[in-house]
Amino acid sequence: MNPTVAAASVIAAALAVGLAAIGPGVGQGTLLEKLLTCALIEARSCERFRLLSLNCSDEDLRGWYHKFMVAEAEHYRMFLDLANQYFGKDKTRFRWQEYLTAEAEIMKNLETRGDRMH
Ligand SMILES: [Fe+2]
Repeated sequence: MNPTVAAASVIAAALAVGLAAIGPGVGQGTLLEKLLTCALIEARSCERFRLLSLNCSDEDLRGWYHKFMVAEAEHYRMFLDLANQYFGKDKTRFRWQEYLTAEAEIMKNLETRGDRMH
């Protein structure tokens, strides 16, 4: 496995575990929780692909990563749009902010390593 992909997988796993610790329903349970968890995963995937698209030494791969970045951005927006549609903008915005706050705390406590992108 590509070391960058492996590092991203480790981070994703740490994030999933960390978010699960902030309360019931994260990543499971209600549709809102599922949609927001998916939105967060897609948003961070988008960011990782952006970094790869800008910094990969292989020109062909840069283009490939760029396409994935765009796709992941669309997925991120789709999940948030669905949350807004089914649960309203205020409720979605409030819970989304809770996710972002929790994520920021998780990231503060992650060990800094050279093979991580996030
Ligand atoms: Fe995606």
